[in-house]
Amino acid sequence: MSSRKLLVTSALPYANGSIHLGHLVEYIQTDIWVRFQKMQGHTVYYVCADDTHGTPIMLRAEKEGLTPEALIARVHGEHFSDFTGFNIRFDQYYSTHSAETRHYSEDIYQKLKAAGLISVRAIEQLYDPVKQMFLPDRFVKGECPKCGAKDQYGDSCEACGAAYTPTELKNPYSAVSGATPIKKASEHFFFRLSDERCADFLRRWTREANHLQAEAANKIYEWLGQAGENKLSDWDISRDAPYFGFEIPGETAKYFYVWLDAPIGYMGSFKHFCANHDVDFDEYWKKDSTTELYHFIGKDILYFHALFWPAMLENSGYRTPTQIFAHGFLTGHGEKMSKSRGTFITAASYLQQQLNPEWLRYYYAAKLNGTLEDIDLNLEDFVARVNSDVVGKFVNIASRCAGFITKRFEGRLVAGEDYRLLQQTIDQHFAAWQAGVIEQAYEARDFSTAVRHIMKRADEVNELIHELAPWDIAKDATKTNELHRACSLGIQMFYLLSSYLKPILPATVEKIEQFLNCSSLKWPTQSSGQFLSSLLLPAGHLINPYQHLMTRIEPKQIEAMIAANKAPSDTQATDVQSKNQPSDIVPIAETISIEDFSKIDLRIARIVDAQHVEGAEKLLKLTLDIGIEQRTVFAGIKSAYDPEKLKGRLTVMVANLAPRKMKFGLSEGMVLAASDPNGTGGLFILSPDEGAKPGMRVK
Ligand code: MSP
Ligand code: ZN
Repeated sequence: MSSRKLLVTSALPYANGSIHLGHLVEYIQTDIWVRFQKMQGHTVYYVCADDTHGTPIMLRAEKEGLTPEALIARVHGEHFSDFTGFNIRFDQYYSTHSAETRHYSEDIYQKLKAAGLISVRAIEQLYDPVKQMFLPDRFVKGECPKCGAKDQYGDSCEACGAAYTPTELKNPYSAVSGATPIKKASEHFFFRLSDERCADFLRRWTREANHLQAEAANKIYEWLGQAGENKLSDWDISRDAPYFGFEIPGETAKYFYVWLDAPIGYMGSFKHFCANHDVDFDEYWKKDSTTELYHFIGKDILYFHALFWPAMLENSGYRTPTQIFAHGFLTGHGEKMSKSRGTFITAASYLQQQLNPEWLRYYYAAKLNGTLEDIDLNLEDFVARVNSDVVGKFVNIASRCAGFITKRFEGRLVAGEDYRLLQQTIDQHFAAWQAGVIEQAYEARDFSTAVRHIMKRADEVNELIHELAPWDIAKDATKTNELHRACSLGIQMFYLLSSYLKPILPATVEKIEQFLNCSSLKWPTQSSGQFLSSLLLPAGHLINPYQHLMTRIEPKQIEAMIAANKAPSDTQATDVQSKNQPSDIVPIAETISIEDFSKIDLRIARIVDAQHVEGAEKLLKLTLDIGIEQRTVFAGIKSAYDPEKLKGRLTVMVANLAPRKMKFGLSEGMVLAASDPNGTGGLFILSPDEGAKPGMRVK
């Protein structure tokens, strides 16, 4: 068998958000395919990395009081442990913030420049005069130019769906500082995708050699247009300082836009791997390489991978991808994943609730078909499907047959004449079995077809065992050989099924290897005309006592996971979360002078008494000691605090606020509390550090 050399990637997740079950559609899918290819005996490397650059990461680090480097290091650890938790095994999980990625970014840029494919021109963009930075679309908010809805992002309106540019927003403000943005011009660098060399190449490349799935290709043709009809725009590949990324060589305060270095991160990650594993990087990346290069991506980033990326590689002297495998999006119960419904689930929370990662791997495999269709996570269906297929059909075969082998036959499967009889039964019964179909389905990433075939065989094995009824013949001392054959048949078929499920259920199959006393299950290739019986474990093979392999999913585990992921409101829409834009930032209020501020007399107060107020929904009545006197204050904190727990603690109050007559009495001041704009994130009163005394002034 000639061995292929494959380099496989998954998209590089942004380093500014957590991995969620939507991401895992991609990483689990790629991992299954890679494991399958490795089982075929090919040389396969699976590389990925965190995508670490860009404005959102810079701002988030700032918000958390960290350097971007510290933030991306922490997130790298989180991402890597999430992936490992789901048994996703990269050969390299690296970072785009690396010397290798910088090297190839500069190299590709220089080569494109030398080829005359980089141009420079000034463009006007919105600029935050307070923060002194250009604002990415998502960091400008304002009123929708179409429907007037407030607080819409700079690129599209969530209320009416209109798409526009940030300069069209009415009353725009910067989501970073709240300032009104101004228009400012600066020089940007462009990759000249509109150059005929690029357009010609792409028209050819996107039609050739199955580089793209049919559905993806059709989208791309629309973007490309006909020959002569130049539809492609040049691509803005630079950003101005301040920015977290790589500086453009030879320029000052200009950085590569994150999407320039992100795919180059595939090369950077592999380069790092090669250096540590004595693998020849150039063999995989040189023009006309005979190795294969595959990118698994979500359909949202097709444009980058099917147009920019091949055009960049082609024009800088590197090989282009063999195929781009795009997939659809994960939905929750047919709808967009949602925090309020608890279907926006992080990888970490799934693992924390002790759910078995193999369940999700199986469920996704059972749904993936190699197209761009979305896939739905329906939690009831998830429970039913996994329990019935994996536990009820597959694991059941082993648990029914193994006990007899251990107790009655000292752990040995049949040998001699009985082995030949068993082979006969298997070949008669499973004549229709075509392992080749399973193999082809895996190869085509049509895992749902592979799973359907495997489970159909599992059904047949169960039916046969049911007919042979080992639990009945076990009672008849004259039928010992029959019993031995029936149970051996179950175990032999279980062995084959396990081999075919290994890419999907690697951890479970590892336990099975121990149980079956096999070092590492190989892919049982059945060539045409070859009998299934030739693929079995040898006659008289010794197995270990059955160990518990997998539990059923309990619906209450799912309930706990939903509860753990349920946010009180859906205001932080999923796409916003996953791309981690700043969440509902309230613009900073108008600037005041120090004199203005010093008019407010803030004092440390001890809560000496706290009471419910009859008839008041939100209020607690607090008695505050501020050293020189006691005050009564009605505070709207009932939803967050038990009055008993407040007694005795210190807080901060506005002591010179004009008293206000309320329905329940006079309120002589105000205590300070933090909350988010819509009040869904909770309510928190302030406390001074230890040592503060009632009456001290806060300035
Ligand atoms: N950083 C870019 C990719 C750069 S690749 C050179 C990015 N990151 S991401 O974190 O937003 O997404 C990573 C991958 O996960 C993408 O392929 C994306 O399509 C996929 N998914 C993110 N959310 C998803 C779902 N809800 N469902 C399925 N896949 C999803 O894009
Ligand atoms: Zn609108």
